[in-house]
Amino acid sequence: MPTKVVIGTQWGDEGKGKTIDILAGKADVVVRTQGGNNAGHTIEANGVTYKLQLMPSGILNPKTICIIGNGVVIDPKVLLSEIDGMEEKGISTKNLIIDARAHVIMPYHIELDGLSEKARGKGDIGTTKKGIGPTYMDKAERSGIRMCDLINPDKFAEKVRENLVIKNKMIELVYGGTPMDADKIIAEYSEYAKRLKPYVTDTTPILYNKIKEGAEVLFEGAQATLLDIDLGTYPYVTSSHPVSGGVCIGSGIGPTMIDECIGIAKGYTTRVGNGPFPTELDDEIGQAIRDKGHEYGTNTGRPRRCGWFDAVILKYAVRTSGLTSVVLNKVDTLAGIGKLKICVAYKKNGEITYDFPPTLEELAMCEPIYEEMDGWDEDISGIKEFDKLPEAVQKYVLRIEELCDVKISAIGVGPGREQNIYR
Ligand code: GDP
Ligand code: IMO
Ligand code: MG
Repeated sequence: MPTKVVIGTQWGDEGKGKTIDILAGKADVVVRTQGGNNAGHTIEANGVTYKLQLMPSGILNPKTICIIGNGVVIDPKVLLSEIDGMEEKGISTKNLIIDARAHVIMPYHIELDGLSEKARGKGDIGTTKKGIGPTYMDKAERSGIRMCDLINPDKFAEKVRENLVIKNKMIELVYGGTPMDADKIIAEYSEYAKRLKPYVTDTTPILYNKIKEGAEVLFEGAQATLLDIDLGTYPYVTSSHPVSGGVCIGSGIGPTMIDECIGIAKGYTTRVGNGPFPTELDDEIGQAIRDKGHEYGTNTGRPRRCGWFDAVILKYAVRTSGLTSVVLNKVDTLAGIGKLKICVAYKKNGEITYDFPPTLEELAMCEPIYEEMDGWDEDISGIKEFDKLPEAVQKYVLRIEELCDVKISAIGVGPGREQNIYR
């Protein structure tokens, strides 16, 4: 069936970009529906590495229509630099369209992201400091500036001036920062507006008509289930809805128009930023996984926290996004680690639970219950068929499938497009 959603199942960086890129090769339309340039997706195609933040991955396919949906927050400067970067590599962006309703990340959002994180001190969230949270705050508060405003010079100038009166008070009086100059912002952003205007439109009827025609549509997820503002480890989350429900709101379609929800997981768990992480390995095994898996942020370069695979988390993602299958990436990274552990459940107040808890207080009481599995030393990065994988790898994958009650449809054994084993 033609419409597919790709969802991160853990805390992000599961390798969504690779699956999105593979599926985008066959898609007529690729849509980003939430988040902004806090996302960092690495794609390796034809020997070239692409690091995308806002640009839908379908851009590499010249026939694909790429939509930045209404649910995305856009830093115009970052988007333009991605457009320029693509054009420099000979990749056309003429098929990119941006929804007029998408909100704009303004310089004061970036400033306030940094200042509020600093003010939180030890309790900081560890945001990407890209202004994501403050932009979604303004959207909910109904003072946000949208792409339709950015490309309307008079309205844009009026909204910037209106907003800055309050933002400067916050910057200066609440956080002790330096106030910002409205004229300077208006002048800078007017240049961005001129360049972005041709891309801005109402994308929702275009998407609807494509789905009606039976086109292959791919909704590319950013962030992940446990970073969802409602279902994640609040407040250590992002400010959007990375679960499959967010796709509908962020692109203007209804849930009956989604055919498949594909979850992306890693064969272990990582997290960048602060917040709880039950299976975290703060030891040499965690460091070995970080080194072997190059677990350093695409976006901020921060070392990612690493830990064992957690089946409670994947089950939670299966349930909250209605996942129809899962891709298990980076299984190759686990070679040579020794015995492996899978968290099969949590022990909470002496009782066993299989459900990811709703509060940090309850999560803090949860102790992972592990099952030990045999590891392997073989390099599996060139293997193409499941049956050819060492027995220990097969057992590891099948046990995860059984525990999480979901079909593992592909196993990632390397960063390249062709390094997937399909089942
Ligand atoms: P995303 O944010 O979910 O798209 O993931 P990132 O791109 O931030 O991080 C995933 C990293 O793992 C990237 O560097 C990918 O190239 C790489 N990757 C993806 N799948 C595999 C895999 O199966 N094996 C290995 N070794 N690397 C992979
Ligand atoms: P991709 O799409 C991993 C994390 C940040 C921080 C929290 C809030 O590459 O998987 P924000 O700047 O969004 O307000 O930060 O969310 N975070 C991510 N972690 N991968 C991402 O995206 C992330 N996007 C946000 O580290 O903990
Ligand atoms: Mg990433």
